[in-house]
Amino acid sequence: MTKLELEDIQGYIIRGYAHMMYSRFVYLQITDATAAKKWLSKSWEDMTTAVHIHDKSKISYKHLNIAFTHKGLSVLGLNEENLNAFSREFRQGMVSPHRSRLLGDADSSAPEKWNWGNYSGDSDETDDFIEPKDRNFPIHLCLMVFGNDKESVDDIKKDKIVCLKYYEELKAKFAENGLEELFSIDGQTQPDNKEHFGFRDGISQPIIEGSGRVGPKDDVVKAGEFLFGYENEFGVYPDTPLIVKDQGNLNLLAPDAGGSGLKDIGRNGSFLVMRQLEQDVHKFWTFLNEKTKNPDGTNNEEESLKLGAKIMGRWQSGAPITLFPDKDPGVISDINDFGYSKFDPDGLKCPFGSHLRRSNPRESVDDHGVKESLKLSKQHRIIRRARLYGQIFEGSPTNTNPEGEVGLLFACFNADISRQFEFLQYTWGKLPKVKELYNDPDPIIGVKENPDAEEEQNFTIQDLPVNRTVSDLPRVITVKGGAYFFFPSISTLRYLATV
Ligand code: HEM
Repeated sequence: MTKLELEDIQGYIIRGYAHMMYSRFVYLQITDATAAKKWLSKSWEDMTTAVHIHDKSKISYKHLNIAFTHKGLSVLGLNEENLNAFSREFRQGMVSPHRSRLLGDADSSAPEKWNWGNYSGDSDETDDFIEPKDRNFPIHLCLMVFGNDKESVDDIKKDKIVCLKYYEELKAKFAENGLEELFSIDGQTQPDNKEHFGFRDGISQPIIEGSGRVGPKDDVVKAGEFLFGYENEFGVYPDTPLIVKDQGNLNLLAPDAGGSGLKDIGRNGSFLVMRQLEQDVHKFWTFLNEKTKNPDGTNNEEESLKLGAKIMGRWQSGAPITLFPDKDPGVISDINDFGYSKFDPDGLKCPFGSHLRRSNPRESVDDHGVKESLKLSKQHRIIRRARLYGQIFEGSPTNTNPEGEVGLLFACFNADISRQFEFLQYTWGKLPKVKELYNDPDPIIGVKENPDAEEEQNFTIQDLPVNRTVSDLPRVITVKGGAYFFFPSISTLRYLATV
């Protein structure tokens, strides 16, 4: 049985810090690599590891984690051969033309319009440090700062104070540590964990084998899907970045579990995908209300909520429509121990095209049997770590209209960006020809703003005697920024200080 080296793993991937309701994601450049390495040689001790939460002697009410872009590792001094040992997706970055096309980042979501992250790792930009003038200069690293107030965990204001105090302490030393802040994004979670459209989120997560967590066996996924150095769902070790050209203190790194004899800079680390996704809450609910109006033109709130649940795959409470097809049971629900083949083989309860069923078809993938489906689904899972940004508004359940920009700072962990995050976004998210779907995208993450003339943007609801079609889905998500990061182990942080 796999046992994770929890003390060497940064905590955010395993623990999620759900009790830390306030967070600040700080994006920085390294302006002096020597000073930054000196800082790293000590600051690895401040990073929260996966054991901190359970080890009472190490309990802390402020958490800190760190992640680097490919450019960041290069500026820090990792040499070219070793930089090239990282996967192509990470090296190229989210905005290289090919990856951008795959992800569907066009029109209002095109990287040229992003607030940050629009810097391609493959571009010809010089290695000279550039005075950061706006958010589109290359990001080198992201510091993730979390806070919670031990007296009252549900009070976001108190968590905010703890987080911001900690941030101020760190910030006071950025300059002497060779760092310069480009910008930051504040993240929140709500006590009921609802995202801005009003649906409870973060319920379905894979359980990493060896993490100590228990749950339904269908949710237990091999550690190598998320962490380098462990076997994955293919029964092999993931393609980890190895030190191919000696540099730095190699005694700090473990050897490659795959047996190559090289030192593994990836072990106990992962890739972290971040996307700032603006949500048009008003457009979302206006669309649902319009599509479900009573014959006299008035809103039909019950039908509007039902269509929203069909689109998402869960009711606003979090209850899965597969188990509660007619009505939201109303009480907050974390029910996740269900499958589609047994309860809903024909999509009559949870449509095949819903966001939930597309993102994780569980044991019911198209024409595959139960066992094979489950195996396939497990090869495309991600650990989601989203936080909300912007003002949280509590309006009526079908007509929220927040002020200013709101959205999800979507984040996920995976060992293979291409097979996991990107696959979900461009294959299961966009693929039109999923079982009995004709030309449908994922209604939340796959809708095109300007589809070609022959392309329809429909949502098909399997029904008897005939299916129903909800036409002209609007695009309710706009990508405002994003980047691929390497989320190193504690040993690797110590090693990076020596390159
Ligand atoms: C603003 C954008 C998004 C919103 C509002 C949203 C909302 C939701 C909600 C409400 C759930 C159900 C809660 C749960 O099962 O945990 C969910 C599940 C999920 N979403 Fe999203 N999501 C968004 C973007 C994305 C993106 C970009 C991806 C990946 C490319 C993604 C992948 C998933 C996955 C894998 C699940 C779990 C499915 C399962 O295991 O049953 N989501 N999302």
